[in-house]
Order: sequence, then structure tokens, then C-alpha cells
Amino acid sequence: MQYLIATSSKTGNTRQLADALAAALAGREGATCVYNGSAGPEAAAALPQADTALVGFWCDKGTCPPDTAELLAQLGGKRVFLFGTAGFGGAPEYFDRILDTVRAQLPASAVYLGGAMCQGKMTPNVRTRYEAMLAEKPGDARIQAMIDNFDAALAHPDARDLAAVATAAQAALGLC
Ligand SMILES: Cc1cc2nc3c(=O)[nH]c(=O)nc-3n(C[C@H](O)[C@H](O)[C@H](O)COP(=O)(O)O)c2cc1C
Repeated sequence: MQYLIATSSKTGNTRQLADALAAALAGREGATCVYNGSAGPEAAAALPQADTALVGFWCDKGTCPPDTAELLAQLGGKRVFLFGTAGFGGAPEYFDRILDTVRAQLPASAVYLGGAMCQGKMTPNVRTRYEAMLAEKPGDARIQAMIDNFDAALAHPDARDLAAVATAAQAALGLC
């Protein structure tokens, strides 16, 4: 297996997953990494050598960001594992929905092996925005839940997240 890891990561959360995947796959017999870096022209240039692509994305309004979408469109004939982070955690169905949306952007000839996601911390301005919303609607349970989610996200990705994504990838790739 010649695999490529290409990641879109604005603030580093998804990069952490990519690094954990690279570490988990390094040295596996029959598995050679041909590229490990950001999604973009360099990833596209390395693609011809890879039969398997592990593509990481941060959740951008319910889907993947444009650089990921661009890469996904070039994955015809490849085996693909998706991994990602999103600010909202706690509901596996939410992650499944995002993965379905992102997966739908693969060409028909790509072989989707599976995907895994975890929660990822958000930037402080998001909490400031939520606080302003709560100040306008004191006691609003929905806004309070958003603040609670923000605070819970601060600890992610954590070691368990990294291990779970690495395990899911190894299983999907048939390496364990
Ligand atoms: C513009 C923007 C849109 C986002 N949209 C969502 C979203 O729809 N759902 C969600 O759960 N998180 C959303 N997030 C949160 C990020 O997906 C999350 O913090 C992610 O872990 C960031 O990953 P990174 O550190 O690899 O960039 C959004 C963040 C930004 C900046």
C-alpha cells in the first residue's frame, strides 16, 4: 500500500489527527507514506504514486473546506479514508452526517473505506459571540448549551480521540 495523508487544518486540530495517523502507519509492513502534508498542489502532485488517500478536513459549515473538496475530486480510482474534526461533539450521528456529506464529493470510481471524526476546539471569538448572544437572551438554554459545548471542545482532540481515529483508519485499511 502506498498511502498519502493530506490534511486541511486551520488551527491545528485536524493536523493532530494526521500526525497520529502517520505515527500509527509508520513502519507498517507493506505500507509506505508517499506524502504527508496539507491538501493542495503538493498533495495533488504526489497522488499518482498513492493507491490510498487519507484525507483530513475541519468541518466548515457542515461540510469540508474548499481545498479538501478540490482534492476529493481528484481521487478517482483511489481507496479513501476520511478523517476530520468539528466543533460540535457528543452526537455520533452529527459526525456521520458530515462524513456522508463529504464522502458524496468523491468521484464514483473512488473506493470509500470509511471515516472517523472527533470534536475539535474552537477559537475564543466563538465563545465571545455566544456570550453576547446569552447577554441578549439571559437564561436561553440553547445558547447555554452552545457555551457548554465550546468549553467541552477545549479538551479535544485528546489522546483518546487520536487513538480512536488511528484505530479506525488501521481497521479500514485492513492493517489490523
Ligand atoms: C468558518 C468556520 C465554520 C465552522 N463550521 C462548523 C460547523 O458547521 N460545525 C462544527 O461542528 N464546527 C464548525 N467549525 C469548527 C471547526 O470545524 C473545528 O473547530 C475544527 O476542529 C477546526 O479544525 P482545525 O484546527 O484543524 O482547523 C467551524 C469553524 C470555522 C472557523
